Amino acid sequence: MKKLILPDAIQAKGDDFIFGVATSSFQIEGARELRLDCIWDTFCTQQGTISDHSNGDVACDHHSRWEQDLQMLLELGVDAYRFSIAWPRVIDIDGALNETGIRFYEHILNFLKQHNKQAFITLYHWDLPQHLENGGGWLSRETADAFADYVALVVQRLGDKADAYITLNEPFCSGYLGYEVGVHAPGQKSPKAGRQANHVLLLAHGLAMQKIRQYAPSVPAGIVLNIHPSYPDSASSADQKAAQMASDYLFHWYLTPILTGSYPDLLEDLPDDIQPEIATGDMAIISEKIDFLGLNYYTRAVYRSTNCGWFEEVERNDYPKTEMGWEITPHAFTDLLIGLHQRYDLPPIYITENGAAMDDRLESGRVVDAQRIDYFQTHLNALAQAMDAGVDIRGYFAWSLMDNFEWALGYSKRFGIVYVDYDTQERILKDSALAYRDMLYSRQLYR
Ligand code: FCB
Repeated sequence: MKKLILPDAIQAKGDDFIFGVATSSFQIEGARELRLDCIWDTFCTQQGTISDHSNGDVACDHHSRWEQDLQMLLELGVDAYRFSIAWPRVIDIDGALNETGIRFYEHILNFLKQHNKQAFITLYHWDLPQHLENGGGWLSRETADAFADYVALVVQRLGDKADAYITLNEPFCSGYLGYEVGVHAPGQKSPKAGRQANHVLLLAHGLAMQKIRQYAPSVPAGIVLNIHPSYPDSASSADQKAAQMASDYLFHWYLTPILTGSYPDLLEDLPDDIQPEIATGDMAIISEKIDFLGLNYYTRAVYRSTNCGWFEEVERNDYPKTEMGWEITPHAFTDLLIGLHQRYDLPPIYITENGAAMDDRLESGRVVDAQRIDYFQTHLNALAQAMDAGVDIRGYFAWSLMDNFEWALGYSKRFGIVYVDYDTQERILKDSALAYRDMLYSRQLYR
């Protein structure tokens, strides 16, 4: 079996660098009957949305198997678990805390505490309650207020049982993919809606930060963003400008306001009819200081300019690809981290997701996913290189603990380091899980 070798720069950090695994509620929990409907339940019922026509009704049945799943996590020897709370499970339709729902997460937190594992809680990983979508969803500022109310109730209850609170996971996916291009729930397709949803999501993040500060002042809080390092298709100045615009419009649209209090300059060039509605005071709320930035990294993106001076993504085949069709580009990961470090005054960074969907085969009780091990190794090396260049990175979470519902691609793509047999719900540690475990155990020996 292939091994994973811990890079020196990470080893040298000792306890100041944590390793974990990540999941999210809708992708693993199931037990839909025990919560309100969310936008992904609805999206899954619509024609042409999910490639294998599946849904999250059962998923990995984690809601009933959580204890077994956390035992597995202990076996891996990770320091931390990043998971999300399902808003529609913990808040009733009248806005009150749902006792049964919140207790589910309390059990998880108690288990983690008891075993000395850190809990990184994501408060929103895309499962917006459907009744809020009916009232305007992320286009309406009322949803930002509802999010802050939900966060206040949860944080008052869970307080410092969490080791870190994350407001939103990848607002790019909720705002841009969900409202602008429509490949994610709720499936709207309008630039105006996309820009507006992004703004309301950022506002929700800021309002939630204030609540976390109020009710759990000692717990570090931040947000998780995905940023594809953007490259021009050619050396032409038009393509270079296109890559720059894409990067600002798609990715820095979130980070720049959070860290600097204003949108990228590109905002001014957008036509009036797609401008978001920004109220006085919004930008101050959005730029509430964060304690850390979570980054999810999978691949790079390449752009070229269009005739009308905009950008479009180009599919390139310069590097091997994962099952998602994503190029495997660890050097771009280093570029991204160093680039961000040069451009901003960054808080400490956690890599909150990194991983790959591969063509996994379960044969004689084993999954030999050597390519996934390579992916982890090259990306850990890339991360270490950025650390050597001075980027302050405090942790790394593999996506994902186990195979799960991969959004619009249903169960057809497997990102887990643990294989899930969806017929029997059996879990089988893939070779990558064993390699991750061995790397973490050998790290312990040197401490
Ligand atoms: C990220 C999501 C996560 C998972 C991975 C593959 O964008 O945060 O839920 O789907 O991609």
